[in-house]
Amino acid sequence: MFENPTIAILGLGHVGLPTALGFSELGWRVIGADDLREKANQIRAGVAPFYEPGLQDLLNSALRSGRFEVALNVQSAIENSDVIFVCVGTPQNEDGSADLSQIEAVGRLIAEHANSNKLVVEKSTTSVSTAKRLKDMMEKHKNLNWNIDVAVNPEFLREGTGLKDFFEPDRIVLGIESDSARDQLVTIYSPLLSKMDNENTGVVTHRNAKFVITDLNTAEIIKHASNSFLATKISFINTVADICDKVGADIVKVAEAMGMDPRIGPSFLNAGIGFGGYCLPKDIKAFSKIGEDFGIDMGIFRAVSSVNENRFIPVLDKLKSSLSGLNGKCGAIWGLAFKPGTDDIRESPCVPIIKGLIDQGISVHLHDPEAINQFKKVMPRKPGLVEYFDSPEQAAKGTDFILITTEWQQYLQVNLSNIRDTMSNPLLIDCRNMLNPTHVRDAGFQYVGIGRPFLDKPQ
Ligand code: UGA
Repeated sequence: MFENPTIAILGLGHVGLPTALGFSELGWRVIGADDLREKANQIRAGVAPFYEPGLQDLLNSALRSGRFEVALNVQSAIENSDVIFVCVGTPQNEDGSADLSQIEAVGRLIAEHANSNKLVVEKSTTSVSTAKRLKDMMEKHKNLNWNIDVAVNPEFLREGTGLKDFFEPDRIVLGIESDSARDQLVTIYSPLLSKMDNENTGVVTHRNAKFVITDLNTAEIIKHASNSFLATKISFINTVADICDKVGADIVKVAEAMGMDPRIGPSFLNAGIGFGGYCLPKDIKAFSKIGEDFGIDMGIFRAVSSVNENRFIPVLDKLKSSLSGLNGKCGAIWGLAFKPGTDDIRESPCVPIIKGLIDQGISVHLHDPEAINQFKKVMPRKPGLVEYFDSPEQAAKGTDFILITTEWQQYLQVNLSNIRDTMSNPLLIDCRNMLNPTHVRDAGFQYVGIGRPFLDKPQ
């Protein structure tokens, strides 16, 4: 009988921790575990190890409720649970494929320490057929005759809105091989759906959320295909933005009109400096590698990656054509995180831009509301060359240009008229097209966007 399952979450990163706290909030007993002892201790002590809106509050309440605990080791989480979600990292190998060593190590531990029937749910993004291989491997290594079932339940959590995405999913994909795995997972997610009951009619509307029940390989491909499609949309619109730049058209209007077609849809059509983060860049490469291993022409995905990796070039070109000489200039960089709402700087598109600036002899004043501490680890302060500032206004002081690289809402609040006279030269390059060009020009700046008509500063 599957009435009150205890859930283990192995890996407490950007996917595992929000998922663990989400399940706990839904009323389940959850045991989290992470091999990184320092991180596990920090979470046990009630401190969220990274910034994600709402995460700290949910961690406080989950610990208070007694439904969430962090195990002393992975083994004890395995032994004391019924359903085990594998949320460990799948970093990138040199050839672009996913490194599955952490998943395999966890699989071996589960096989060795299973002390009752277990359902092992792969949540990490993996290569297709990983779940099948995991099942065969656990079958081979298991000590006793317990049944170890395997399922795939890909996550669609975006950093910055991870908790919202958990509580308001647009689909819950369940790759299963048995009715019992399906029933267990539907039970675990059911409080989420019943929260969506229409109280007046008693009809479960599920809002937009739907279970998609499928086999293991299909569920794995759904995840890879989804991220690859999002990446494709972004590189597509960025290429169109480059054409707009050449002919003086406005990509924002182009994207708006394109998005009105329901076959295209409005989201992920914001042109800029490309996609970063721990997911899209590596997932599209891993998917390309999977296809190539089967002899399929993956040129379309290779092109998406290549467009993305070259997004720093138009930014440097814009700077060259807007300033007379770059050597010795100083620029303010607003935004270091790969997107707003997170302190994650992995594959942040600002990195090749900043490196390119420094290579050209430009010194940089860096600002970000959340990511400065993370960024200092990869780019330490170098007096006179790389400096960090607590506010965008301070960062802009004495500089020849401002470059907006992450669209934090805070940057919309800056009074540009007030900072114009503190700068050596009022030039603003809006790499995320977040500002109204006319307002920027009215504040006395030259405005340069991505794929938008350039506006000179008022004479
Ligand atoms: C992505 C997916 O959106 C999630 O559905 C998925 O669960 C997650 O990866 C994952 O595999 O774990 P995330 O990496 O948090 O989520 O970030 P996105 O919101 O997808 O943004 C990725 C990058 O694309 C960011 O650098 C963002 O600035 C950029 N972007 C996004 C654009 O340049 N233009 C857009 O229109 C949208």
